[in-house]
Formats: sequence, C-alpha cells, structure tokens
Amino acid sequence: MLDGRYSLRSHTCGAITKAVVGEQVRLAGWVAKRRDHGGLIFLDLRDRSGIVQCVFDPDESGAAFVTAEQVRPEWVVLLDGAVRKRPAGTENPNMVTGEVEVVITKATVLNRAETPPFEIEAGIDTDELTRLKWRYLDIRRPEVLAALQLRDRVTQRFRRALEHRGFMEVETPILTKSTPEGARDFIVPSRLNPGKFYALPQSPQLFKQLLMVGGIERYYQIARCFRDEDLRADRQPEFTQVDIEMSFVEQDDVLQMMEDVMREVLHEAGVDVPMPLRRLTYSEAMERYGSDRPDTRFGLELADVSDVFAASEFKVFAGALAAGGAIKALNAKGAGDWSRGRIDALNQAAIDAGAKGLAWVAFTGTGEVKSPVVKFFTDDEMAALKTTLAVEPGDLVCMVADARSLANEVLGALRLRLADELELPREGHELLWVVDFPMFKFDDEEKRWAANHHPFTRPFDEHVEMVESDPGAVLSYAYDLVMDGFEIGGGTLRMHDPDLQKRVLRTIGLSDEEASTQFGFLLEALSFGAPPHGGIALGLDRLVMLLSGASSIRDVIAFPKTSSGGDPLTGAPDAVGLRQLRDVHLKVD
Ligand code: AMO
Ligand code: AMP
Repeated sequence: MLDGRYSLRSHTCGAITKAVVGEQVRLAGWVAKRRDHGGLIFLDLRDRSGIVQCVFDPDESGAAFVTAEQVRPEWVVLLDGAVRKRPAGTENPNMVTGEVEVVITKATVLNRAETPPFEIEAGIDTDELTRLKWRYLDIRRPEVLAALQLRDRVTQRFRRALEHRGFMEVETPILTKSTPEGARDFIVPSRLNPGKFYALPQSPQLFKQLLMVGGIERYYQIARCFRDEDLRADRQPEFTQVDIEMSFVEQDDVLQMMEDVMREVLHEAGVDVPMPLRRLTYSEAMERYGSDRPDTRFGLELADVSDVFAASEFKVFAGALAAGGAIKALNAKGAGDWSRGRIDALNQAAIDAGAKGLAWVAFTGTGEVKSPVVKFFTDDEMAALKTTLAVEPGDLVCMVADARSLANEVLGALRLRLADELELPREGHELLWVVDFPMFKFDDEEKRWAANHHPFTRPFDEHVEMVESDPGAVLSYAYDLVMDGFEIGGGTLRMHDPDLQKRVLRTIGLSDEEASTQFGFLLEALSFGAPPHGGIALGLDRLVMLLSGASSIRDVIAFPKTSSGGDPLTGAPDAVGLRQLRDVHLKVD
C-alpha cells in the first residue's frame, strides 16, 4: 500500500479523510490547482493516491502563505498542516477527500516546474504524439494512471493465481535465435561474432518447451516479446505475454487451468463471466461469424444459402457453386432503407476485403424490394431466401458467392462494419474458446504448406497419418482465447515425439537438414525424454486494454511506440555513430 512509510510524508493525499480530522499531517506531492480567493489560497495537492484540498490563511499560515502565492501548477511541495472538516456547504461529494481540507502551517518547495505542454487532468483532447513526447506528464493524468494501476493489479493477480497452482517463474533469454511465430524478427548484431546476429524472441516458445524437457513441469513468465510487424491498435513491436507451459497434460487440462486463472484475474478487474467458457470450433466460428476471433456480443450471424440457389440461373452464383464454393449471406436488420450510396460503400468494402462483388437485396420498410440481382432469382428462390434469413421489411440481405473461406471472411468483415454502422449494442465482456484449428494453411505466395499456429503444434492423434497425404485436412490441438472480438490468447499442445516433429517440418517444406540447422536443438531435446506438454500465452496488453475500456494497447503501456514504431520521448529508433557500427561489423548504405 502506498502510505506515509519510508518517505518525507506522514500520509498520502488520498488518505486525508474524515478519519484523520484533527490530526497534524505532512503531505508531499504536486500542485494540481491553485485558486486565489482573495484572502484565502486553495491548493489542490496531488500524489499517486489522490488529491486533497489545502488551505492557506494569511492569519494561520504565516510564511507558508507567501510560498502559496508563488507556487504554480506541477511544482513539487511538502506541506504541513492540520486536517479539519470543510465548512458546511463547501464539501465536494465527488472527491474521496471532499469532506475535509488541510490548513497549512508550513510549506516547502521541493522543486519548480515548467508550464506543462498540456493540462494534467482527465479528458483532455491533446493529440497522442504530444502526450507520448511528455509521457511522464501524461502518466500524472488520472486515466493513464488508472490504466497502469489496473495493469499492475491484473499482472499481480496472474502471478498469484499461477503461483498457487504450482507454476514456477523462469526467465528466458532476450538475445536468442529466431523463433517462428510468423512475424519478422528484430535482430541484434554481435560484436564478438562478426557477421552474426541474435534475434529478439517473438515469444519464449522454444525455451518453455525446453523447460518442460528440463522437468520444470509448470512454467510461467510475464514475458516481453518482440515482433517486427505492421502496427495496429492492438499490435506493438514489443508487447507482453503471460506465458504458460505445462507437462503431462491434455488440451482440457490447459483450458481448465486457464479458466480457473482467468476467473480470478477477471474478478480482480470487477468482471465476472460464467464458466466454463463456450467452445466454438474454428470451422463453426468461420461459418457463423466469418472470423476466428468472433465478437459474439451481437448476432448478425452468417447463413449458408448455397442450397437456396443450388439451381440458380444467376451466373455469379452458379459459377461459384460449380467451382466448389458457397453462397453465404447475412441479414442486416435496419439497413433495408439505406441509400444507394451507402449500400455501394458496403459493396466496395466487400471488394476491398477480397470479394468479386456483393449481391444485395434491400427490403424497404414500405415493402418494396430493391436489388440489382433479384431479376435473376425465381419466386421460389426469393421465398426460400426470405425464410432462411427470416426477412422482414427493413432488412438488407448481403450475399457473397465465392470459395467458402473467402465468402466467410468477407462477410465477417462486413459483419463488424455493419455492427458499427447499425450501432448494435456491444456491452459487457464475452469470452470464448476457439478450438480445433487446422494444423496447416496453404501459403499461396510461396506455394507451400505453412504451420497455422506454429510448427510445434500437435496434430490430432487420429489425423497424424494425413500429415503428408492431406495436410489441409489435419486438425490440431490448438486453442485461442477470444474476448470481445479480440484474440487475447493462444496456445497448443506440442509434439513431444521427435519423429512426428520432423514429419511436420517436412510438410512445411523444411528438409531434415534445414530443420536441424534451425531447430536442431529442439529436435535433439525432444529425443531426450520430452514429456507430453502444452501451454498458452495471453496477450497482457490486449486483456488490460479490454478491461480498461481503452481502444488501443498504447493506452495501457507506460511507454508505447507510435504506429510507425517510434518513441517520441526518447527519439528511438535513432542513428548510431560510425564507431558503434564498426564495433558490430556493420555498414549502413
Ligand atoms: P501467439 O503468437 O498467438 O502465440 O501470441 C499470444 C498472444 O499474444 C498477443 N499478441 C500481441 N499483443 C500485442 N502486440 C502484438 N504484436 C502481439 N502479437 C501477439 C495476442 C496473442 O493471442 N508461443 C505462442 C503461444 C503458445 O503456443 O503457447 C504464441 O506466442 O493476444
Ligand atoms: P454482374 O452481373 O457481374 O454485374 O454482377 C451483378 C451483381 O452481383 C453486382 O451487384 C455484383 O456486385 C454482384 N456480384 C458479383 N460477383 C459476386 C460474387 N462473387 N458474390 C456476390 N455478388 C457478386
């Protein structure tokens, strides 16, 4: 607890309540506000615990009154005084300390401050770049402080919950070798080994597996991960995982453990969700929501209308079905009277998402049907479409005919856009598991199979024999934890059999030789009695972002990077001198 111990102060500002009326206190903090009420001066003093009103009275405060006349916002002061009840009618019910004030008898200026570039208070509209350049001032503001405090509580709660369950915290290297999590590595040149580079870990994946071979059995780490990828609101180049690995487990053990831990962590943040969590298979998530991280807090589910149009004369539909594809649809209730321009924008969004077009049918509130495609539909098809989608006046039916996966993804993107535009309520929090992911996905650019999660994921026992013959059909013991439409965690059971591990690496195009150069140490470790093991990693930044209601993980990271990967405060990344480059055997063009 932050209190008067180990400091110049006797109490913190937030502790000055009715309970200490009459006491002599010494406070230290920043001047939040100064109000000169002719005769009396009021200073709002702020520290991490809160704000308390301090009064300077020329009669009672003596020399301190002169100090109070000089101080400015953000000056650092040490104040001595007596706590008293505020005069009737001047209480502030919005403040924890609102019933009292401190009459100051001694004031010491500990430090002065320049005028801050923005107001140190809640709800300012200063741009983010400015706030990040003076992030230490931004951190003095209540919402940033609250986010960091929540992050601290969540982190501590994870540690406690995991320690209680026998997990050991072990640190793993930051200067290491590339780990294939699918992003680009940050690399660090080695001075002692000319021409060689360390990679910063994209996750502790391989080390936590080695720890299982090492007999640690239950490992966790609040681990920093580094990925050189394009940044978004929920992506930073360095971020934090609550990284977990367990031995002698099956998938249900990991999921059960995670639910138990999450129950405690969420409760700490004031969120209680019913457990066990719902499980959706990957294929169900894609078919119903068009996403492997569905936001299930609103409906607008996708439907399959392939059967309705099985005999369609409409070339686009018939062509897609003939090619083995599907016709997927969603019914946007409330969009049936949208203007042509608005619907055209939807069509464009579908095309941007990869569709060839959007077939739409608008059912206006007055019972009219508007659509560029109904002319191709028979009466029976129209009737069946309306039944399948429970169409009512005021609905807008959107359809995409294409390869099934593409149709799902496009409508998944439209679903989110429509939810925004229709302002569908998305309150509270919903967590669920997405399970049974495909083991491999085909990389169209490189024309080869790639690991869907990472290549250490264990295929379903009953699918092992298809690893070579039909990779696309192999499912895996992989699971993602999804919250409010964000992937907040992901994990898998791993292969502990080195032969199976080699077969999987071959399927993704690695010869035994390449496999041994890249992952020889892992393959070797697996051959020394690796226990069955599996684990998961939670994105701590994303979880805290959702719990704090922030819209970007930057808001819950003390010193985040901008979207171009820079730190406006320190100026990183920055050029380095020739000497430094020479030391690490590098030349820059
Ligand atoms: P994965 O790559 O799914 O799994 O990462 C786990 C979780 O980390 C979060 N995350 C990120 N958060 C912020 N910025 C990023 N750039 C970023 N990238 C990922 C997500 C994600 O769910 N080693 C495996 C885990 C395992 O198999 O045990 C791994 O790293 O919330
Ligand atoms: P067309 O006859 O090609 O001009 O297309 C007629 C309508 O079908 C247009 O509104 C297109 O946007 C739409 N459309 C085209 N391709 C597809 C597709 N693959 N799925 C759904 N709608 C499509």
